[in-house]
Amino acid sequence: VARLAILLSGRGSNMLALVKAIQGGVLQDLAEVAVVFSNKPDAPGLAAAAALGCPTAALPSQGRKRAEFDTEAAALLQQYQPDFVVLAGYMRILSPAFIQPFAGRILNIHPADTHQHQGLHAYEWAFDNHLAETKITVHLVDEGLDTGPILAQRTVDLRGAETLAEVERRGLAVEHELYAETLAELIRVKS
Ligand code: GAR
Repeated sequence: VARLAILLSGRGSNMLALVKAIQGGVLQDLAEVAVVFSNKPDAPGLAAAAALGCPTAALPSQGRKRAEFDTEAAALLQQYQPDFVVLAGYMRILSPAFIQPFAGRILNIHPADTHQHQGLHAYEWAFDNHLAETKITVHLVDEGLDTGPILAQRTVDLRGAETLAEVERRGLAVEHELYAETLAELIRVKS
């Protein structure tokens, strides 16, 4: 059973979808939550994880130097012996100090095609550009911003989506399926 460290900074809907998949979906018998970690101690997702009985940990990043914070965060996470570090709305760029101990085992979900859009506000980008479709990307994390090798992509049909909220609703539904399915496949391949 693969141990997941799930990292978030906010709402945590992807974390919740992964926990659901572990409890009775595509990740059942394949994965377990080692820890849900946040750089924001007051992130709603952290409280939601605790309410589900997941181990949680937080380390405030505000006002910290990136390399120092990342070194400390990586050391903290290593105590939980994760097989995979799963970024789920973890809104930080990772420095080499963080990536090195988990190289090749860090995953991210990005709500756009990473070849077309990197960084924040991907749904706004799709909405503002009136895209007929966008793509959700699950990729391995390297030292660039949304540049790592792509593991999976899935199209979101945006035709008729008249508000940003509708674009997000359709996108998140795809995110929640794709992340768990991609992880399940990766765990099967690696074990
Ligand atoms: C998700 O849409 C995720 O893809 C995105 O943040 C949201 C987090 O929502 N991540 C990025 O934009 C990373 N560049 P959640 O906290 O409900 O999972």
